[in-house]
Amino acid sequence: MTLQVTKVGRLNSDQVNSVLRSAMLAPSTHNTQPWLFRCTRTGIELHADPRRILPVTDPDGRELVLSCGAALFTLRTAIHALGFHPATTLLPSRADPDLLAVVRPLAERTPDPEAARLADAIPRRRTNRRPFRSGAVPRSMLATLRHATELEHAWMPSLDAEQCRVLLDLTARAHRDQLADPAFHAELGRWTGLGASTRDGVPAYATEGAPADESWLLEEFGATHTGTRPDPLVVVIGSLTDERLDRLQAGQALQRVLLTATGAGVDASFISPPILVRAARAELRRLLGCGVWPQVLLRVGYGSPLPWTPRRPLEDVLLETLVSA
Ligand SMILES: Cc1cc2nc3c(=O)[nH]c(=O)nc-3n(C[C@H](O)[C@H](O)[C@H](O)COP(=O)(O)O)c2cc1C
Repeated sequence: MTLQVTKVGRLNSDQVNSVLRSAMLAPSTHNTQPWLFRCTRTGIELHADPRRILPVTDPDGRELVLSCGAALFTLRTAIHALGFHPATTLLPSRADPDLLAVVRPLAERTPDPEAARLADAIPRRRTNRRPFRSGAVPRSMLATLRHATELEHAWMPSLDAEQCRVLLDLTARAHRDQLADPAFHAELGRWTGLGASTRDGVPAYATEGAPADESWLLEEFGATHTGTRPDPLVVVIGSLTDERLDRLQAGQALQRVLLTATGAGVDASFISPPILVRAARAELRRLLGCGVWPQVLLRVGYGSPLPWTPRRPLEDVLLETLVSA
């Protein structure tokens, strides 16, 4: 069967190609790119690819759905920036839980400057694991990122300096627990530290300069914080419940936050151990103290330029497609 993209709704085939290539630039756990797309006459379907789950790191596929949510937000943004309304239905099929969303490019609409800014940031965004340059992210940025989160129906609770101190300890403990598990090690080794020609997984150059112990990521804060605000900024994206829909929305919020930050010249990287280790996540939830389920923890600051992390070819993420016009 020919796998190719065709006209979808108001988008011609070149535009469909372009928005799919943009969506694939979303971040994903270990760069697994756990998404599949199907083009129909009226819409682009986003499917989770359960073959790309990380059985040890992410056994219930929470991060897989977050990653797909990030791809969904990118797809919506790219369609919007072309001047079409991306009418989106989340989880449209009870019978098929892997069908996460359908996006229908409907009536033309004038792209607003914000959509253009976000779309411009799509190819420039990177996960930046290296030490950040000194210089506090302005307080107004926290409000901007919180607003971006809420636009996507997720929450960004505040973390004060005392909570960050506890978080630092929690991160170190959770990371130690992960490293004590040989299965975790083996999975990490399969997906990271790879050669430059890899099309998925994390190439070694992407983590150069980042220490193996992720608690270090917070150490800058531990060493330099002053007053009540951590520096660099540490932010949590959370949800009120922890269902598939919440995770899909949190993934969209994640990518809106990351693209907003990139647009403002601000970088981010992930601090995952306290969310991936079940007991640590419960502790973090108590620490936040507002009933919110932590979905993503980010460290935000000013980084230096980085090369991009490669993606798979588009053909690898296309499900059989309606090719007739
Ligand atoms: C839900 C989620 C969790 C992630 N967790 C980590 C992490 O714990 N450590 C890390 O270094 N990168 C993490 N990443 C970043 C991915 O490794 C990164 O997105 C991927 O390698 C592609 O690179 P890019 O973001 O620079 O395009 C995570 C990404 C997502 C979406």
